[in-house]
Amino acid sequence: EWTPDNIADMRIAQLKEQIGDKQVLLGLSGGVDSSVVAALLHKAIGDQLTCVFVDNGLLRLHEGDQVMQVFAENMGVKVIRVDAEDLFLNALAGESDPEKKRKIIGKTFIDVFANSAREVSEQSDGKVVEFLAQGTIYPDVIESAKSHQGKAHVIKSHHNVGGLPDDLAFKLIEPLRDLFKDEVRKLGITLGLPAKMIYRHPFPGPGLGVRILGEVKKEYADILRLADAIFMQELERSGWYDKTAQAFAVFQPIKSVGVVGDGRRYAWVIALRAVETVDFMTARFAHLPYELIETVSNRIMNEIAEVSRVTYDVSSKPPATIEWE
Ligand code: XMP
Repeated sequence: EWTPDNIADMRIAQLKEQIGDKQVLLGLSGGVDSSVVAALLHKAIGDQLTCVFVDNGLLRLHEGDQVMQVFAENMGVKVIRVDAEDLFLNALAGESDPEKKRKIIGKTFIDVFANSAREVSEQSDGKVVEFLAQGTIYPDVIESAKSHQGKAHVIKSHHNVGGLPDDLAFKLIEPLRDLFKDEVRKLGITLGLPAKMIYRHPFPGPGLGVRILGEVKKEYADILRLADAIFMQELERSGWYDKTAQAFAVFQPIKSVGVVGDGRRYAWVIALRAVETVDFMTARFAHLPYELIETVSNRIMNEIAEVSRVTYDVSSKPPATIEWE
């Protein structure tokens, strides 16, 4: 019988058996799937698990601190946090094509991850890291043929972890490979992960990199992070976070005139995007109350001096996509 409790106990027992006394490495993104894998593995093998969390400078506000708090501080999971902001931003400098940006981010992620993997292997005094765990879920297996849907921090796995250099020949562990998202969420709750983490909206692997239109700059990312955080706060406060499938702010590298006090302000434009969808293949723009949009828009323009105008995206998918790039 399928109950989250049964599944959890069975998977933990299987993982113990499969892994034995070997070391396991996991790329932790902070998303639901890799978080549930971390919780499962932590229960199964404790200290034999090392997680790598890559801060690529394209995360939401305080994202890295939150991941460290939940996993390292509260759960006692071994997490290595890699500060790779400069590396990612330097790699992205001058590039404005969306697909090329995705490729650069994906490649840089693999480079950083491979480096940490090598370090962990070298430092685990003789105990070789034999396994790499991933939060692949059933829809990823089906969708993996599609180029645009590359999943956050999953290193494509068809022929034993393609993408990683040859000297890092890990065996793969994918304990969620036959589960759907709602099953993964139930499992996460059973494992004691905070509901706030389990019911979060999906966040794309390239992160703010595809929500800053065109060339990515630190200045833009910092502004976008603040605007996005205000939007998230107000969605949560109003109860609309749970009524939308995905919501975020987008940075538009165009300037618009505004007026502040006696002065004229010539500053950036932020778009708000919120959608309702079940499968993410089609989506309707969320019919947020005007009062909510008004609160968010006023707060963004009042609290962020570099923003002079806020727009709401009323495009549904198709023909638009959910992300702007
Ligand atoms: P689109 O924009 O294609 O988005 O309507 C559909 C869903 O996929 C997510 N998405 C991505 N996720 N890497 C990811 O991990 C990507 O490159 C990527 N592009 C889009 C998007 O956030 C939405 O949930």
